Amino acid sequence: MKIIHTPEEWKKIRSGIASDKKIGFVPTMGGLHNGHLSLVQKCHKENDISVVSVYLNPTQFNDKNDLLTYPANFEDDSALLEKAGVDYLFAPDYSAMYPDGYTYKVIETDFSQKLCGAKRPGHFDGVLTIVMKLFNIIRPQNAYFGEKDFQQYVLLDGMVKAFFMDIHLVPCPIVREENGLAISSRNRKLSEKGLAAAPKLHEILENESSLEQKKNELESSGFTVDYITEHNGRLYAAAFLEGVRLIDNIPLKG
Ligand code: PAF
Repeated sequence: MKIIHTPEEWKKIRSGIASDKKIGFVPTMGGLHNGHLSLVQKCHKENDISVVSVYLNPTQFNDKNDLLTYPANFEDDSALLEKAGVDYLFAPDYSAMYPDGYTYKVIETDFSQKLCGAKRPGHFDGVLTIVMKLFNIIRPQNAYFGEKDFQQYVLLDGMVKAFFMDIHLVPCPIVREENGLAISSRNRKLSEKGLAAAPKLHEILENESSLEQKKNELESSGFTVDYITEHNGRLYAAAFLEGVRLIDNIPLKG
């Protein structure tokens, strides 16, 4: 696996890749876990060349403490990616990604203001902007995103269509622990007690109960509910446990 740090380095490599070779791309912020690895495996299988980015994007964090405590370790991440057979790891720094100092942004004005967007002002501006930059640098044919961040996937898919970008987005199913907990880098911030309580989020979403009942059940299981709501045939929730913000979503039945 070759590690690249600047857009210029990748552009040189990219220009030497034959046009009939399929490039698959998995953007990440590091702190890699089995959820990411499932995207990487799919990408590896479906493309000639696999590229993964590890970039902890500050512009999508509205909470400074959340950014500072994000559990990522570059050595561990790059060892996992090497083992998974990734061809190129793109690991830029802020000056490489934001030569404009984040004066230019990609903004969506509707769905990005709802659900997580309503609770995390500016979050999706940061996500859309960094992914647009990464797409313009890597120029993949296929890009892989986990359905745990379903709202993010919908917004990115909308961006690709709105700007006529020739990139196919591949949504990948949520990877869960055996107890149902959606795997997330943030789970590492939970204590043993928190980890034991966290699967309740998924369990309660799956219950045959009203939104009000689900909210009450979550609160009595120790969560502070940020939101729980239905949107376009899906049930979405975000809730804090031990100060850690967990999200999950499921398709609505029937
Ligand atoms: O889902 C993530 O990890 C991030 O939002 C992404 C897509 C890598 C952009 O920073």
